[in-house]
Amino acid sequence: MHFIVTGGAGFIGSHLTEQLLSDGHHVTVVDNLSTGNLQNLPEHPHLKLLIKDISRCQPQDFTGQIDGLAHLAATPSVTQSWLQPLKAHHNNLSATIAVIQLCQALNIPRLVFASSAAVYGNPTQLPISENQQTYPISPYGLQKLVCEQYAKLFAKQLGFSFVGLRLFNVYGPRQQPNSPYSGVISIFVNAMQQGLPITIYGDGTQTRDFIYVKDVANGFTKALTTLLKSGSSLICNLGNGKNTSLVELVDILKTCFPKHQSATNFMPYRVGDIQHSQADISNASSMLNFTPHWSLKSGLEILIESR
Ligand code: UD1
Repeated sequence: MHFIVTGGAGFIGSHLTEQLLSDGHHVTVVDNLSTGNLQNLPEHPHLKLLIKDISRCQPQDFTGQIDGLAHLAATPSVTQSWLQPLKAHHNNLSATIAVIQLCQALNIPRLVFASSAAVYGNPTQLPISENQQTYPISPYGLQKLVCEQYAKLFAKQLGFSFVGLRLFNVYGPRQQPNSPYSGVISIFVNAMQQGLPITIYGDGTQTRDFIYVKDVANGFTKALTTLLKSGSSLICNLGNGKNTSLVELVDILKTCFPKHQSATNFMPYRVGDIQHSQADISNASSMLNFTPHWSLKSGLEILIESR
């Protein structure tokens, strides 16, 4: 099959591209390299690159039949969405509408969208199921939610099938430790490798659902290839299904770095931080046959080895 991956040179997109290629598919990556990097991608006879902003792409930029599009290109930063809401709106929401129009023009039967747990805001119940009310507390979360709604509407109207995957806390190789959207794991691993102190915001009892990037790539692959009714929409959480506190995370990391122990500093909670997060992944499991394969410890070991 032939898939388009927008944001395919980025952290998650490059792992998805690798998996699709190793499964024998053809991939066209579209990336404007704003945060992506061509070094993330292999040289492969079935891989085509289009270095372009997705919202500027025309149907004639693509050749051959396309069986699905995974849309991961975005400004994936809550902070940036507050600082530059109009720019984030363009890169997150307007770009998704451009993608929907591309699906229409190229007759693409499946759209898979990288949504976010940010659509839930402060969860009222754990684990968080897709039925829980969505109440975004950042422009970023709102943009992701509205993208889902646009895609649902157009899927029904145009007859393609849509899968929105609500990503929880993704970590793994190629996640930048110094970017505005750096996750806590990439920051801590980077510091600990250099023996530098780490900072915990709050008392470290807050929990997150950390999912290894290759599990996420697997979830996207299933979402691209599972048989679904045309015109249908499916929303699935994509997490590990377990929650881990920051204190537990630091304990696991310390066992990975037995030689040099970093000091831990505690600072006040970050404004807007949620206390707990854990995905109910039963929907992804029943609808997409998704099971996470990497435990936090095994994922961390691969991440540390890759650096
Ligand atoms: C994550 C997502 C974000 C999404 C949100 C939805 C990542 C990188 N970000 O944010 O896109 O909108 O879920 O709920 O996956 N922390 C420290 N020290 C540090 C860095 C972070 O203590 O040096 C703490 C934070 O205060 C937070 C926790 O670690 O309590 C996780 O932070 P982070 O990795 O930035 O992710 P989220 O805030 O959960």
